Amino acid sequence: MTRYSKIIGTGSALPPDCVSNAELVRRLAERGIETSDEWIVERTGIRQRYLADPNTASSHLATQAARAALEAAGRQAADVDLIIVATSTPDYVFPSTACLVQKALGNAGGAAFDVQAVCSGFVYAMATADAMIRTGMASRALVIGAEVFSRILDWTDRGTCVLFGDGAGAVLLEASDEPGVLASRLHADGRYEGILRTPGHVCGGAVIGSPMLTMDGQAVFKLAVSVLDEVGREVLAAAQLPIEQLDWLIPHQANVRILQATARRMGLDPAKVVVTVDQHANTSAASVPLALDLAVRDGRVRPGQHVLLEGVGGGFAWGAVLVRMSGVH
Ligand code: ACO
Repeated sequence: MTRYSKIIGTGSALPPDCVSNAELVRRLAERGIETSDEWIVERTGIRQRYLADPNTASSHLATQAARAALEAAGRQAADVDLIIVATSTPDYVFPSTACLVQKALGNAGGAAFDVQAVCSGFVYAMATADAMIRTGMASRALVIGAEVFSRILDWTDRGTCVLFGDGAGAVLLEASDEPGVLASRLHADGRYEGILRTPGHVCGGAVIGSPMLTMDGQAVFKLAVSVLDEVGREVLAAAQLPIEQLDWLIPHQANVRILQATARRMGLDPAKVVVTVDQHANTSAASVPLALDLAVRDGRVRPGQHVLLEGVGGGFAWGAVLVRMSGVH
């Protein structure tokens, strides 16, 4: 019998500090930085973001999201034999955030590691967990995207600091004789590493280079729209699923204009795109599982539906995972 993986639970977590554009404008004005709700909404669609306090790390949000996914699936932490955390803002240089989540959940003995593919991290982690389940290396995997991007923002650069938020999302994948994950494709092109990066590292107890995010916004925009369209078509073709049978597109939530342009290029009804960037801003590796969990819990994404998850971001790295949803909750 062919072995597949399927999603049996989803969960998410947001820090309590919900910062509206108006509040962010006020906080930035205190630092002498000028911006406006109008500029942010018009260019990005973002209306608010959640920001973690200094004591909250990615592993805390990841653990909360993982617990919610386990509860939704009716499974215990002890049932899990693989934990993958996608993050670019890990708690430490090492150990991995996944090992910290494993400890917090009271789970031990299975595999646990982090994936670093920035805003594509969650789809990279999903594709990896699916492959490990299909080959028999794991049976039940927590796949988590968790970020505290607010830590690596230059709060004096209005071109980037208004775009991001913190949060985590998780899915529980389980081995199955029916396909849940139908097809996955991952890509990267390191020639574009310079257009979106945080080019610092620790050496001898000091930070060398910049620990802050820098971005060429227009270059990222153009590349993101073209690769999201390409990889979406590629995965649908691999699964032989006509686009008419796609129920939901959940792309990385960077900017509402990128989401709209992607739907247009793919010939997809914009009403089929799950949009959360207005509520969460860009939470990097957490954005796709956060949006999935929200759409599952509000009843939009239902069992039997086809959902296309897409990631794109620093590296430059991108990818997509097509899933048929099973009964969650
Ligand atoms: N408030 C007010 N004005 C601003 C702000 C701000 N927060 N930020 C920039 N501006 C000003 C600039 O100073 C500039 O002013 P000038 O014309 O007087 O020089 C003007 O707005 C235009 O700046 P641009 O950077 O050219 O603005 P653009 O229209 O390109 O929009 C944006 C910037 C929103 C970042 C856009 O390029 C974009 O959406 N890029 C996609 C990248 C993205 O979403 N990245 C997220 C991370 S990447 C990822 O997750 C894949």
